[in-house]
Amino acid sequence: MLVAAVDQGTSGTTVCLLDAEATVVGRGYRAVETSFPRPGWVEQDPEDLLASVVGAVADALADAGRRPADLAALGITNQRETTVLWERRTGRPLYPAIVWQDRRTAAACERLAAAGHAALVQERTGLVLDPYFSGTKAAWVLDHVPGARQAAEAGRVAFGTVDSWLVWRLTGGRVHLTDVTNASRTMLFDLASGTWSEEMLELLGLPAEPLPEIVPSSRVYAHTDPGSFLGVGVPIAAVVGDQQAALFAQACFAPGQAKNTYGTGSFVLVNTGTAPPAPQTSLLRTVAFGLDGEPLTYALEGAILSTGSAVQWLRDGLGVISDSAQTAELAGSLAGNDGVYFVPALAGLGAPHWDPRARGMIIGLTRATSPAHLARAVLEAIAYQTRDVVEEMAAGAGVTVTELRADGGAARNPWLMQFQADILGVEVDVPENTETTALGSGYLAGLATGLYSGRAELDALRRTARRYRPSLGADQREDLYGRWLRAVERSRDWDR
Ligand code: G3P
Repeated sequence: MLVAAVDQGTSGTTVCLLDAEATVVGRGYRAVETSFPRPGWVEQDPEDLLASVVGAVADALADAGRRPADLAALGITNQRETTVLWERRTGRPLYPAIVWQDRRTAAACERLAAAGHAALVQERTGLVLDPYFSGTKAAWVLDHVPGARQAAEAGRVAFGTVDSWLVWRLTGGRVHLTDVTNASRTMLFDLASGTWSEEMLELLGLPAEPLPEIVPSSRVYAHTDPGSFLGVGVPIAAVVGDQQAALFAQACFAPGQAKNTYGTGSFVLVNTGTAPPAPQTSLLRTVAFGLDGEPLTYALEGAILSTGSAVQWLRDGLGVISDSAQTAELAGSLAGNDGVYFVPALAGLGAPHWDPRARGMIIGLTRATSPAHLARAVLEAIAYQTRDVVEEMAAGAGVTVTELRADGGAARNPWLMQFQADILGVEVDVPENTETTALGSGYLAGLATGLYSGRAELDALRRTARRYRPSLGADQREDLYGRWLRAVERSRDWDR
């Protein structure tokens, strides 16, 4: 029997088929399209997201030479915050999915902050008042799609993050749920009580009718509708936000254990145990996972909005490279950065700076600047941004990261991983399987269906592929990092 671990991410959907030993026996991948209709706007077609999931599961089954009837469970993990509203009767989206990177609600967030609500939002939800989260995006749809608000108030509209949208459509419109980790990214969730917050709904002007039911991250919630999913009714046994899935697959089960997933953005999460962390100014407090019948486990998160997307831009936007892996070779061809810095504020700046009006910037150019400098500056920026949030964890929350578990696409870039260890001054540990987001959803689904026995078994499954040890002197490290901080200051508040 197999678990289909589905990772519906920002760039595409990855599916790993896991067997009872948690070995990946088949893989599928379907890219998804993103459109940028105006500066700062980022949209996807919810139907495309759904089709990519069904297609990637079919591809993974074909890869493994297996049939849909061999699936014992489906685990779903997803890009978080991305917001979908749809008509309950038809399942038709009211508007494209507004992607987490979308900045269109920056002015709405500024108005809420100017009215003095930032502290309340932090306290209740653990989040900062930023367009990143779903709440202001959902309000935008209700305010801009004719008739949407009345339909929502009359109970004819469903709201959800991508997990909810997928579960709704995969169950043929019978089930409307979200798990605790995804709920904690909406700005509508009360972090301490684990329920929807009436206060936040009122603040953002949202009706409660469209909300999904909040469930644990691991439990058999429903079966897929055969007409909607490859002709089979498979138990949906896990729903979890992608960064939390990665934390779980990295076996960060104990307080203090931290991971960074290098994807479109990078997300550093550190497990903080079963009591909600104290309010923060620039780090997010979030749910790490919620196992059935257990208290919630929490995490602190440093959400860095543009990292892999900057590499993509180098490749697809500028044509400086034809393959992401070339960045390692280009960066390594130079003895140093020669003072060239790139601040990838392509979607504003996230943690710990939180400036939706910052914009990307390259500084330090001379006639000697080459494509290699650009490639190196992009990779260095990924590492500096990680240090920014790790610093904040120590200074703001008193949590010292003593080892960083790395995963995601760029964890396979040896130059970046070495530079990351150098700039942090701590060891970076890369596991054998870096597709941790998919794995995490598979593990959680396997726990719910009895395929895996518990966290001890999962902990033993994590094997280190490579450990990177810091090799840079403290002076050099601090010099490089200090110039980065100066560059960041210059990129701020540009889009006015
Ligand atoms: O919060 C956004 C995050 O969940 C998206 O992750 O891997 O799709 O870039 P990714």
